[in-house]
Amino acid sequence: MMPTISEQGDVSPDDVDPTPSQGAALLEIRDVSVRFGGVHALEGVTFGVPAGSLTGLIGPNGAGKSTLIDAICGVVPASGVVVFEGHDLRGLRPHVRARRGLARVFQSGELCDDLTVLENVVVGPFRSRRRRADHARDVLQRLQLDADADRHVDELSTGRRRLVAIARALAQEPRLLLLDEPAAGLDSRESDWLGQQLIAVRDSGVTIVMIEHDLQLLMRICDHLHVLNFGRLIASGPPAVVARHPEVVAAYLGGAHVAAEPA
Ligand SMILES: Nc1ncnc2c1ncn2[C@@H]1O[C@H](COP(=O)(O)OP(=O)(O)O)[C@@H](O)[C@H]1O
Ligand SMILES: [Mg+2]
Repeated sequence: MMPTISEQGDVSPDDVDPTPSQGAALLEIRDVSVRFGGVHALEGVTFGVPAGSLTGLIGPNGAGKSTLIDAICGVVPASGVVVFEGHDLRGLRPHVRARRGLARVFQSGELCDDLTVLENVVVGPFRSRRRRADHARDVLQRLQLDADADRHVDELSTGRRRLVAIARALAQEPRLLLLDEPAAGLDSRESDWLGQQLIAVRDSGVTIVMIEHDLQLLMRICDHLHVLNFGRLIASGPPAVVARHPEVVAAYLGGAHVAAEPA
C-alpha cells in the first residue's frame, strides 16, 4: 500500500475511460512507469491535476521528476496512461501533444542571448493566427515584461529571463504549462516575484505543473503538492499537509525545512 495522503485511486492502464468524467482533472497520470535499462526512473505513478490549479512536484535529485514531465510530453517511452482533457495521449508524438495544449519550459530556458525579449517570444511555437509580433507583445504585457520587449535577454536578471522563457511557452496558448525548476538559482526576492507571476498565469486560466526545489515558494503558491522518491509517489496533498508527512520528512525535507514552514 502506497503511503499517500490523498486517495491515489487504483486505475490500471487497461481500464481507461476515454470520456471525461464530471469534474475530471485536466491531466490524469495513471500508473505511469519509465525504465532506462535497469533504472526504474518512475514506477506506477498515479495522480490527477485539477484544471486551474498550480501543482508542485518535489523530490530529491534523481527521483524522476523531469522524467515524469518527459512522459507527459511524450519524449520518453512510458507505460501507463496520460489523459489530457479526457483524451488518452498514448501514441501521440510530442509536437501533437503540444498542439493539443501542452507547453513545457526546460530547466535551461533555452533563450537566444543575442535576440531581444520580443524576438525570443516571436521565434517560439505559435498556435495563434494573429500577427506573431502583436500576439507576442500581448503575452509580454500579460507578464508585465512589455517594458523589456526590445532589450536583449542577456541584459536581464535571471528571474526575468526565466519569465521570458515562460512567455515564449505561453505564446502557444497552452492549457497546461509544465515548468522544470523555474526558480533555480534565483534569490528569494526574485523567486517571490516569479511566484507572483505564476499565480497570475494560473489565474488567467492556464493550469501549471512545476518541479521546484524551493519548498518555501511552493508552500506559498501551490494548491497541490506531489512528492516523488526513487520513482515512486510517496505523498500527495495540500502543501502544508505534505510537508508534515513523516515519509516526506525522512526522504526529502529534513526537520529543519518543516520547522521553517511559513505561517
Ligand atoms: N535519458 C536517460 N537515460 C538513462 N537514465 C536516465 C535518463 N534520464 C533520466 N535517467 C535516470 O532516471 C532517474 C530519474 O531522473 P530525473 O527524472 O532526471 O530525476 P529528477 O528530475 O527528479 O532529478 C535518474 O536515476 C536518472 O539518472
Ligand atoms: Mg530534473
